[in-house]
Amino acid sequence: MLNFRGFQRLAVGAAGGTLMVCVQAIAASPQAELMRWQQAAGQTGDAAKGQVFFGQRHGGEWSCASCHGQPPINDSKHASTGKKIAALAPAFNAERLTDSAKVDKWFKRNCKDVLSRECTATEKADVLAYLIGLK
Ligand code: HEC
Repeated sequence: MLNFRGFQRLAVGAAGGTLMVCVQAIAASPQAELMRWQQAAGQTGDAAKGQVFFGQRHGGEWSCASCHGQPPINDSKHASTGKKIAALAPAFNAERLTDSAKVDKWFKRNCKDVLSRECTATEKADVLAYLIGLK
């Protein structure tokens, strides 16, 4: 049975969880995304390497640029569906890299499509440094 104490603990836990989610949402920004992956990689993102990585095919049919263009500063077209994709570089699209869950979801999907595996933390940090550096 859930007594009052137990309920209190639950309520505090839930409030704490909500607070964490809010703080994460506020903190999400291109710079915060870059820092998150630099921390995971244990090194600074390298924009020059990110640029090369973005334009290369990695054994498959597509590069990142196949769908996002290069430099990815304009609207582009999805390589297979032809659907419009808005500019990926945050200086050209204020919505980009502002939602960690979205970044994670699309890195996962896009890396699988291009490299047939997930991107490493270093690759993500390099790509983010490249995207954030485009002005
Ligand atoms: C087959 C097409 C395709 C390829 C190839 C592709 N992407 Fe994407 N990407 C998309 C689509 C579709 C979305 C989600 C729609 C949108 O956000 O406009 C997306 C979204 C993203 C996002 C989310 C950005 C945000 O915060 O809104 C990132 C980051 C990204 N792609 C990076 C990459 C990288 C890095 C590569 C190469 C490894 C890559 N993409 C290759 C189609 C592609």
